[in-house]
Amino acid sequence: MHIMAFNGSPRKNGNTSTIIRAILEGAKSAGAETTEVVLDEIEMKGCMGCLSCRKNHGVCARQDALSPYLEDIKESAGIIVGCPIYMYRMGGQIKLLVDRMYSLYPPGREGGYGTAVPAGKTYGLVVSQGAPDPDQYKRSIRWLAGMTGTGLGMEEVGRIIHADSYERPAKDHPELLAEAHRLGRRMLRVE
Ligand SMILES: Cc1cc2nc3c(=O)[nH]c(=O)nc-3n(C[C@H](O)[C@H](O)[C@H](O)COP(=O)(O)O)c2cc1C
Repeated sequence: MHIMAFNGSPRKNGNTSTIIRAILEGAKSAGAETTEVVLDEIEMKGCMGCLSCRKNHGVCARQDALSPYLEDIKESAGIIVGCPIYMYRMGGQIKLLVDRMYSLYPPGREGGYGTAVPAGKTYGLVVSQGAPDPDQYKRSIRWLAGMTGTGLGMEEVGRIIHADSYERPAKDHPELLAEAHRLGRRMLRVE
């Protein structure tokens, strides 16, 4: 059982990274193999708008360091997507991933979109923000969870919105990290 995490924070020991690692520890404790993809550390580019994925369903024609990980999503037991809020929206690294995930949305039989991701996968979301109100960016967060998880047919088993990060960094927040660990176990449907 393979759980993958896509980390959109450029900070190796920042909040998103700390929370994602706690989730992955939880997943490992339930028997998962895990991979963390730090998007800022790989040579990836954005969608090139070629629309080849409208014909070649489920495959992104852009070949770069992200390509194998996009393929691995289809084989995984579940994915975690995490990022900081920058300038009132998701950080740019995660937007590059979202756009490339368009390739996982083939045209639907009766219009709209289908999914190239086999059914039965779990999904977890992590967002870290400086603002204290966890609802402040809820529309952006709903969009992110939809585009990268539930819209592809995955079951969201938990989300962590880490607010007020300047006052309370994740590393100093044992309750939050315990919640993250539990979320990791839920990724394998172990409560
Ligand atoms: C360029 C930049 C823009 C930011 N914009 C926002 C913002 O609009 N709203 C907010 O709540 N926090 C904002 N922050 C704060 C980050 O979201 C916050 O520090 C977060 O915990 C960083 O996550 P990380 O430690 O995982 O990188 C911004 C930080 C940076 C560097």
